[in-house]
Amino acid sequence: MRILVIGGGGREHAIVKALSESRHAPELFCAPGNGGTAELAQNLPIDLEDPGNVVDLVRRIGGVDLVVVGPEAPLVMGVANLLAASGIPCFGPKAAAAELEGSKWFAKRLMLDHGIPTARAEVFENREAAGAYLADHGAPIVVKADGLAAGKGVTVARDLETAMHAIEECFSGAFGEAGEVVVLEDVLEGQECSLLAFTDGTTVLPMVPAQDHKRALDGDEGPNTGGMGAYSPVPVVDDATLAEMTAILERTVAALREQGVVYQGVLYGGFMLTAEGPKVLEFNVRFGDPEAQVVLPRLKTDLVDVMLAVASGTLSDLTLGWRDEAALTVVLASGGYPDSYEKGKPISGIEEAEAVPGVTVYHAGTKRGDNGTLVTDGGRVLDVTAVAPTLREARDRAYEAVSKISFEGMHYRTDIGMRALSEA
Ligand code: AMP
Ligand code: GLY
Repeated sequence: MRILVIGGGGREHAIVKALSESRHAPELFCAPGNGGTAELAQNLPIDLEDPGNVVDLVRRIGGVDLVVVGPEAPLVMGVANLLAASGIPCFGPKAAAAELEGSKWFAKRLMLDHGIPTARAEVFENREAAGAYLADHGAPIVVKADGLAAGKGVTVARDLETAMHAIEECFSGAFGEAGEVVVLEDVLEGQECSLLAFTDGTTVLPMVPAQDHKRALDGDEGPNTGGMGAYSPVPVVDDATLAEMTAILERTVAALREQGVVYQGVLYGGFMLTAEGPKVLEFNVRFGDPEAQVVLPRLKTDLVDVMLAVASGTLSDLTLGWRDEAALTVVLASGGYPDSYEKGKPISGIEEAEAVPGVTVYHAGTKRGDNGTLVTDGGRVLDVTAVAPTLREARDRAYEAVSKISFEGMHYRTDIGMRALSEA
């Protein structure tokens, strides 16, 4: 069996690693991949700006049995449609379903139309109307660029000036087309939690919950990032809350199906656990990064079987098994991330880190330099992940492993999982 994974971050390394452990022993390709995937798969260069390149690549390597799409942008651009048209099985939703992440207003309208709990919101196509609504509504308020903005299009504004500035930024083209439409929504208070599910458009199988840490600095200070660390399970999520979140994902998939849209892939629900119960902050149409790095190591079921069942619409034949152990990942980032940072810094200590029991170091932004040394190649560089009987042990092992690794400018949060541990 031959499988091609699209993407090159920590999420894709975690996917490739899980696939490599399958009893099917698939031959793996990863495009573009990174220094970590290169150990388990054949890395292939690709320009993902054009989703047609994925189909061309599959042809060039003589066909595959499955394409797994890691990041959202190719999905929103219709890579799953192109693959389907060429008869190539794909794990990842078609463009109409990927609109759940591609347009915040599309997602919001679907939720409002189907009574799915979420923050109240309005949509605006010019700054005057948005400004008038803001003046009337007041702060705090959340300003969201409608389209894909690489995680930068959301501002939780505590005062009017910040909100006005964010609106201005969207309409002045800071996010390109993504900001031509702006969603203004009420602020929700509570803890955040991600629940991802596998779905073939009919059956929805939830994964285990995870909590991300989106801010760059300890104590949830500093700018928003793609995610600085995560852990699973999430003790604050009880069975009733989990059931509510699962029901929300099921209703979302069913609502799309009513519109003739069959969702095949991972549906990621970003929830705020409010006093009134879980409410949807956002949907993503793919695995979370770094959530995948703590969820996939807990999956007992063969990931190849799950992904083939999703792609072929036979997920009802499967049940998922999960390890009781906890997983926790600490992201090691380049100095300056999420703003500008330098690349090409030599990395040392990964072997020593992986000698700590239960530790896997997923590569997020690395590559092999000219002389074969591993160097930094992105904002998020490594995800140091530990699996252990308890969250506390996972945290201790992950940080012990972190202490073995170094590269110039390395930055990480020292408080991943702290909230869960202080509440436990
Ligand atoms: P999104 O891309 O929509 O998930 O937004 C990114 C982050 O902004 C979320 O993870 C939350 O931390 C925050 N956020 C988004 N919407 C809201 C909201 N309605 N209330 C409070 N925080 C929000
Ligand atoms: N960790 C957040 C995301 O993947 O969108």
